[in-house]
Amino acid sequence: MYNRYAVILAAGQGTRMKSKLYKVLHPVCKKPMVQHVVDQVVKLNVTEVVTIIGHGAEQVKAQLGDSSKYALQEEQLGTAHAVMQAEETLGKKEGITIVVCGDTPLIKHETMEALFKYHEESSAKATVLTARTENPFGYGRVIRNENGHVEKIVEHKDATEKEREIEEINTGTYCFDNKALFDALKRVGNDNVQGEYYLPDVIEILKKDGAPIAAYQTADFEETLGVNDRVALSQAEAIMRKRINESHMRNGVTIIDPANTYIGPDVLIGNDTIIYPGSIISGVCSIGSQCTIGPNSEIENCRVGSNTTIRHSAAFDSEIGSDVQIGPFAHIRPKSQIHGHVKIGNFVEVKKAVFGEGSKASHLSYIGDAEVGSDVNIGCGTITVNYDGKNKYLTKIEDGVFVGCNSNLVAPVTIGKNAYIAAGSTITEDVPGDALSIARARQVNKENYVEKLNKKK
Ligand code: UD1
Ligand code: CA
Repeated sequence: MYNRYAVILAAGQGTRMKSKLYKVLHPVCKKPMVQHVVDQVVKLNVTEVVTIIGHGAEQVKAQLGDSSKYALQEEQLGTAHAVMQAEETLGKKEGITIVVCGDTPLIKHETMEALFKYHEESSAKATVLTARTENPFGYGRVIRNENGHVEKIVEHKDATEKEREIEEINTGTYCFDNKALFDALKRVGNDNVQGEYYLPDVIEILKKDGAPIAAYQTADFEETLGVNDRVALSQAEAIMRKRINESHMRNGVTIIDPANTYIGPDVLIGNDTIIYPGSIISGVCSIGSQCTIGPNSEIENCRVGSNTTIRHSAAFDSEIGSDVQIGPFAHIRPKSQIHGHVKIGNFVEVKKAVFGEGSKASHLSYIGDAEVGSDVNIGCGTITVNYDGKNKYLTKIEDGVFVGCNSNLVAPVTIGKNAYIAAGSTITEDVPGDALSIARARQVNKENYVEKLNKKK
């Protein structure tokens, strides 16, 4: 077994995107393109991953973190020049190096694994991953000789009319014998239409050295789509969306309208869960079995149990248990922990709050910075007054408490176990367990008031 290395090209500006955001950071199914690539590459058993950064270097680093090493390409002089920047880290290593572009977000690790295998078995010094497409515009074309062996790759802009008719394209992914790669890179010139150092020129250089060169054609062009502009970005999004949704459906998830359901690549969903249209589930999420999600729910970075319903609602960075009812029109903000059998109803906003087993806030409430015990009933319109303009304070509502409608709980405050809060109260002091607390002006009825009023006229 050879050592395996990976180089990911991510230094370009991406001029054709016409964006302030660097190209490889544009998201596909809410995950930046380059992160898709790295997530696949790390599955390949590689000893080292080096990402070439330049434009937006700090942002790319912040995105990828320590899943990769980095090499800075200060000036973007072309893809060969980009790979050269990895020489310090990889140049002296024995092994096989895969090079992948950061703008091919759909590439699968299975395909790269197959490329590695093909490369190893053919004992080639370089193997290019190719694909066939009826619309090869913009891609480098693979030039084969009369025996079908790869001779070189010609960039679209440098290609003759005849060469442009070739439908086999360079996907931008390659395996190289590592030492042969760095040796050949030194000999790449920039005498071409774009005045750039082209990585694909390494193929022709090694070929002329007499080294064996191979090409591995993948059947699925879609997977190798290179995203250079927003049209391709939308195509990548559609392909990825279809791929993800189909895999969930094959696992037993019902998706009513897959064209209208947006699920990220790092989402797990149990079987017999039904997802209604207009739902967006993204980030790292897990959703149990037999849940009902949507229509129109947005769930990001949440863990959701089984048999839970989230309708017309949004939930972020939170844990939601089993047999929970959320919505319609509820908002679960970060760091909330909703235990089993809880109900969070219409127009209820929850932030950084724990809800114990079986508790309910069914209508029109704000519950933030709160610890709610189990079997608590929070009446319509209740508000935890958590903020004094400078600091946030905690509201504790112990097990079995009944909070009457339209109450304000001015934090910091604790409502003891099984206590009752009378409707319309503004609670500013702790309430002992089992007490009834009434904190509002006593009602005064002025008898025959209307009669007096009329006499005055
Ligand atoms: C490249 C290939 C082309 C192939 C296509 C597949 C070259 C010269 N051409 O073309 O044969 O069909 O990909 O999608 O390689 N980058 C750097 N530094 C640079 C230049 C580019 O890091 O100096 C990075 C970019 O950020 C990008 C990747 O390399 O992620 C590819 O560059 P791009 O300009 O998109 O190349 P293409 O024109 O698409
Ligand atoms: Ca590209």
